[in-house]
Amino acid sequence: MSKEAKPPLQLARNFIEKAFLTKRARREAPDSTLMKFYHNYSVFDLSVPQKDGIYAPNQASKGPIISGYLLFALGKLKAKQNGPVSTIEMFCADAYFSFLARKFGADHCIATDNDRDGHFAEAASIKEKLGYGEEVTFLKSDIFDLPKGLSANIVINCGGLYHLSEPLRALDLSYSLATDYLIVQTVVSLASSDKNYFETPAPGWTWGSRFSHEYLLAAIQERGWNIVDVDRNELLGNDKPQDRGSSYFLISKT
Ligand SMILES: C[S@@+](CC[C@H](N)C(=O)[O-])C[C@H]1O[C@@H](n2cnc3c(N)ncnc32)[C@H](O)[C@@H]1O
Repeated sequence: MSKEAKPPLQLARNFIEKAFLTKRARREAPDSTLMKFYHNYSVFDLSVPQKDGIYAPNQASKGPIISGYLLFALGKLKAKQNGPVSTIEMFCADAYFSFLARKFGADHCIATDNDRDGHFAEAASIKEKLGYGEEVTFLKSDIFDLPKGLSANIVINCGGLYHLSEPLRALDLSYSLATDYLIVQTVVSLASSDKNYFETPAPGWTWGSRFSHEYLLAAIQERGWNIVDVDRNELLGNDKPQDRGSSYFLISKT
């Protein structure tokens, strides 16, 4: 198979070149020497300060499982020797999992986020430090406004569903964007194991949603998707039971 980028991805990349951070935005980017980062980058041999509070303990909970799923999917696709491997990371914040995908052999990585919390500046700084070029591209967009024609071998949908009032709509979207593997992680409530438990907005918030692990599992099973692995643990940085659960799914489409 050709080593060229796949046509849908090429279309998306053209769109991204137009939509992504303008030269003016780059000039006005915060001073990276003062930045603290969403993730710890020691696995990349980068010594950059991580943000205080929940970030380090929650990375310790989420990182190994998500990274394991990502490396498994990448390895399987590389073993097929079917041409370039692409990823799309939804809710990317500082694009940590896109950088990880690139480090472990992904050829084209699109990291997308609405940049509500301003983490793209961190992503741009890390990209520069790692010396990556167009292999890792950022796309500022609401999740429901992504350009048509976007697709990738692996879609990483982590840390975002609970931010939305319609998480299953974003779940379905992520599945439709993936040609081979979908990785899902989300906060789930530990206060309920009822498969019908869903509320929006999330308790104590004015936006987002909260649901049980069983709710998400049932939704995925109802769709008949091929679950390669499912797991769950606790987000050590989050105190309240309704914020502390974390669910993980590796779904294969092939
Ligand atoms: C908790 S962070 C996830 C970071 C990373 N994916 C991880 O799991 O470690 C959630 C991210 O979702 C983004 N986000 C929230 N609502 C969004 C929406 N409607 N469309 C796109 N991005 C959104 C936020 O800007 C934020 O960067």
